[in-house]
Amino acid sequence: MLKAGSTSQSLNIPKIRADFPILKRQVHGKRLVYLDNAATTQKPKQVIDSITDYYSNYNANIHRSVHTLAEEATEAFEATRQKVKQFVGAGSVEEIVFTRNATEALNVAANCVTSGLRPSDKIVVTEMEHHSNFVQWQQISKRMGFNLEIVSVTDEGEIDGSDLEAKLVGAKALAFTHMSNVLGTINDAKSITRKAHDAGAVVVVDGAQSTPHIPVNVNEIGCDYFAFSAHKMLGPTGVGCVYGKRELLLNAPPFVYGGDMIKEVHRQETKWNDLPWKFEAGTSNIAGVIGFGAAIDYLEKVGLENVEKHEHEICAAALDELNKFDGMEIYGPRDPARRGAVIAFNFGKIHAHDVASILDQEGVAIRSGHHCSQILMEKLEVPATSRASFYLYNDYDDLEALTRALHKVKEVLG
Ligand SMILES: Cc1ncc(COP(=O)(O)O)c(C=O)c1O
Repeated sequence: MLKAGSTSQSLNIPKIRADFPILKRQVHGKRLVYLDNAATTQKPKQVIDSITDYYSNYNANIHRSVHTLAEEATEAFEATRQKVKQFVGAGSVEEIVFTRNATEALNVAANCVTSGLRPSDKIVVTEMEHHSNFVQWQQISKRMGFNLEIVSVTDEGEIDGSDLEAKLVGAKALAFTHMSNVLGTINDAKSITRKAHDAGAVVVVDGAQSTPHIPVNVNEIGCDYFAFSAHKMLGPTGVGCVYGKRELLLNAPPFVYGGDMIKEVHRQETKWNDLPWKFEAGTSNIAGVIGFGAAIDYLEKVGLENVEKHEHEICAAALDELNKFDGMEIYGPRDPARRGAVIAFNFGKIHAHDVASILDQEGVAIRSGHHCSQILMEKLEVPATSRASFYLYNDYDDLEALTRALHKVKEVLG
């Protein structure tokens, strides 16, 4: 069992931690132990500096003016697109569309997919979806008369394979998460995509929780659309991305109308811009996209395989530690090999918000609530859970601080 002070087998954590200014701060007089990474991650100084550099040295709008600042800004913005393309294994930069976040990215994908459907067509989602990959499908289905079906999750926290296969019969679209933000389950996106394609369905994958933590290759997965957020992978808030297959994006209608997404505007007709700008109306979050590029540089230098290995080690150790508490219920796969380092739990009858409040007093930041997954909460028959989620800068001292703080919860409320 790895204890506080143990070193990671995969990452040089002290060196990584030195890059994150916020990790030096204290909360309630205690060292900050940040375990709310599934909500958003902290930012290394390389990302913060890249944003400051843009505003200090070459702030300008992109794709428009010919002056030097505008050209430098455009170049830096488009350089991030190239980095994202490589990071997720897309075929071309035309397939990489910047959005405000994963939520908007998933809405762009839903708009593209549903524009080709007819009333009564079937759309399939799963019980483990974040609201960002559920509500739009539900609402568009109501408005357009599509038939929305929801695949069950098993008691082990996995997508029920036979239910999926049954519901895929005749389906026109499947939307599912690559990694659950509550259960930590990592779904076999490649095999699920193959099954859906065999059934004739277009596939949308929510990669908001997987992309920051495990190597992702959209080409290998074979999905049609894949969405994620910069802020969950060391980048700034306000930037997301949707990958879409070129042919599909070419044939789909724009999501938002206005400036920059057009080639020509006439009184009666408008001609859309080339890909991917057809989907990027108005002034983008230029600083944010540039910061996202710095985040990708950082993750590539560390190596996603190393991040994955480290999180696997710390997740296994955390599951061992949490399981030692009487009355501890942990959701999701028991086998650490089947999950990421997102651990949702309930501690006896103590309300998740009370657990999180006492942990905060000890300097430990976790999330409590329904995690934007009320369909899943209903399935688990709980209103809320506590959730600790780890990232590349979390070490065994953090895990020890979590268990120490949970003993405090037991002492105070148990
Ligand atoms: C699985 C999953 N999908 C989508 C989202 C939405 O991400 P954002 O809030 O960045 O749009 C989240 C955020 O927590 C998530 O965990």
